[in-house]
Amino acid sequence: MSAAQSFSGLAPGSGQSAPPDLAAFPAAAARLPTGNSPAIREVISLIRQVAGHHSTVLILGESGTGKEVAARAIHDLSPRRNRPFVAVNCGAIPTELLESELFGHEKGSFTGAIAARKGRFEIAEGGTLFLDEIGDMSPSMQVKLLRVLQERVFERVGNHVPLRCNVRIIAATHRNLEDSIARGTFREDLFHRLNVFPVDMPPLRRRIEDLPLLVRDFVAQNVSDGRPAVQFAQRTLAALALHGWTGNVRELSNLIERLSIIAGGRIVQIEDLPMKYRPPEDWVWEERQTERSEMEAAVGEKDLLDDEEAFTLLETGAIAASPASPSRAGASDALTALPEAGIDLRAHLLSIERGLVQQALERASGTVAHAARLLNLRRTTLVEKLRKLGIEAATEV
Ligand SMILES: Nc1ncnc2c1ncn2[C@@H]1O[C@H](COP(=O)(O)OP(=O)(O)OP(=O)(O)O)[C@@H](O)[C@H]1O
Ligand SMILES: [Mg+2]
Repeated sequence: MSAAQSFSGLAPGSGQSAPPDLAAFPAAAARLPTGNSPAIREVISLIRQVAGHHSTVLILGESGTGKEVAARAIHDLSPRRNRPFVAVNCGAIPTELLESELFGHEKGSFTGAIAARKGRFEIAEGGTLFLDEIGDMSPSMQVKLLRVLQERVFERVGNHVPLRCNVRIIAATHRNLEDSIARGTFREDLFHRLNVFPVDMPPLRRRIEDLPLLVRDFVAQNVSDGRPAVQFAQRTLAALALHGWTGNVRELSNLIERLSIIAGGRIVQIEDLPMKYRPPEDWVWEERQTERSEMEAAVGEKDLLDDEEAFTLLETGAIAASPASPSRAGASDALTALPEAGIDLRAHLLSIERGLVQQALERASGTVAHAARLLNLRRTTLVEKLRKLGIEAATEV
């Protein structure tokens, strides 16, 4: 009996079975995406909800937003956590090799197949197969994958014996698959098979309030990798919150690694940042510090605030009414929970403010007057805020 045949005797796929009792699978080892923003909390909630089921998950999001982090977290929180998590980058493997990579091959089935080899589906048996960059898969492979998703069986290259598999599929792509369907490069039937439980990873610029926590994580990671620790001046973190982060969390992680090499052991100032991360020349941090800003108010000195500013921070839920307020200050209000290692308060609050203002502008399609209403600010106050934060609105009316 060949390896392939013996494998075919494994238990049939369990896609129909009831979700298991998650309490039996403690989550201690799972690494959830870092962040406290509403957007990342929504992602974490989806991860927790879907983990215990066998449903196929489709993770969407720009490059570097943490799609693989989310996929691993789902696996690590699932009953499959003690079985393999196998990742395949479908965009990086040439089409002619991808079939054998996924399904395996028999000896002599093609030139160079000098021995039988298991594919990733077999290696992932009982666990999770992460199909990364699924949007880059060729049309012929899409057909083959569709069949496995429908029937949960496949064949090794060079063998006609169908092999039944019990593998949970998580797919990811940075592409807009609906556009790809419209262009004819992605099969609509495959999309619907994959899109059972979509998870959208937000770009960093939409959750910029997470920046201080991410920075802290990456500094700790650098230290555990043997690189020197760095600290960040408040104005440096505030300046970083102004950056566009098109490379998302990966770009931030790379920057922190670079800074720990060039500025290790000291406090990183704006002048230490590569040019593209420095704020616009008319951004004057000293000026902000002399103002009675919302930053100061958030530590409880509410008398420093005018009503409108207090409303923005309190009613949006971004800031607790007071540290002892039972309605808001529970550890569940992650935005206000003080991390063990402390926090850079000014930078944290500035990034929260920036994130909320940007969200309001987006919801108002860039119209300042509408955004001001969402924030319960006067239009002129918001215009001034935008100037200080270096945010450009589509229209100032
Ligand atoms: N929320 C997060 N918390 C901690 N680290 C994160 C988070 N999101 C991403 N990272 C880190 O950023 C880097 C990129 O993450 P990941 O590879 O998961 O992104 P991706 O969306 O799969 O990117 P790509 O589309 O380029 O493959 C990794 O080093 C990852 O550890
Ligand atoms: Mg990835």
